[in-house]
Amino acid sequence: MGSGIAQLSATMGFNTILYEYNPEVLEKSKAAIEKILQGLVEKKKLQEIEKKEIFQRIDFTSDIDHCVAEIIIEAIIENPGAKIDLLNQLAGLNTDKTILATNTSSLSVTGIGNNILIPGRFIGMHFFNPAPVMKLVEVVTTEKTSKEVIQIIVGLAKKLGKTPVVCKDAPGFIVNRVARPFYIESLRLLEEEKTSVVVIDELLEATGFKMGPFKLMDLIGNDVNYAVSSSLYEQLNKPGRLMPSYIQKEKVEKKELGKKSGKGYYDYSKNN
Ligand SMILES: NC(=O)c1ccc[n+]([C@@H]2O[C@H](COP(=O)([O-])OP(=O)(O)OC[C@H]3O[C@@H](n4cnc5c(N)ncnc54)[C@H](O)[C@@H]3O)[C@@H](O)[C@H]2O)c1
Repeated sequence: MGSGIAQLSATMGFNTILYEYNPEVLEKSKAAIEKILQGLVEKKKLQEIEKKEIFQRIDFTSDIDHCVAEIIIEAIIENPGAKIDLLNQLAGLNTDKTILATNTSSLSVTGIGNNILIPGRFIGMHFFNPAPVMKLVEVVTTEKTSKEVIQIIVGLAKKLGKTPVVCKDAPGFIVNRVARPFYIESLRLLEEEKTSVVVIDELLEATGFKMGPFKLMDLIGNDVNYAVSSSLYEQLNKPGRLMPSYIQKEKVEKKELGKKSGKGYYDYSKNN
């Protein structure tokens, strides 16, 4: 997600810093962005010069000291402790004018905000996957988020070509709460061995969904989707209908994370 958000930001003309602490992942991200931009050049959606300019606007770094900016969008693993640690490091490196946003899909934005140094300058900015393509951005506010910060982030989302929807912090915000049964009920059908992944995906796509639940989980990442399912289940006081599936847990344990690992509900190894 961080890679997609950086690509989008640079494409829309912002000087962008893409910080990833793992240099190998950073290199992959750099290569992936270049490949996507090159693809756009080949499809004549971008000129070669524009590609170069976009690429040059991104400072790819594994050095946290480079992370000085007006707005910082955090998109690391879905773990509150890790996010709080990083956000506080970033708050220390920046001024109290900097806005810190989180791209969390399901963690309590209020819970994170209460543990960081500048809660008034903290907000959720939830992009959808793939970030350069999907139009919606949920702008998630806490009671401490200042009005000015909400306005700036709504304005930023618009400048990025997105449709921002402001919502109060709540488990799963809007989209992930509404979408949870889409995944969980499909997984129940598999648990009960009623049908197959392919049949469920094909049927739901035939009814008008752009992607069936299993293709979508593979795109999102099965680790991320399992973390989101578990987080919502806990925050909503464990309703049986939203209990995560053991199949999700197994996928994570087997590292069958979806497209990013080459295998999930489908096999992507031949495409890589
Ligand atoms: N995958 C989706 O479809 C999706 C959609 C919307 C929001 N999100 C949210 O975006 C965030 C990231 O999701 P993702 O799918 O990109 O996860 P991912 O696991 O693919 O990527 C997370 C990256 O963060 C890096 N990282 C971890 N700790 C770090 C740290 N302390 N400093 C710097 N980098 C660190 C990891 O090396 C990894 O490359 C999560 O909060 C997730 O809920 C994901």
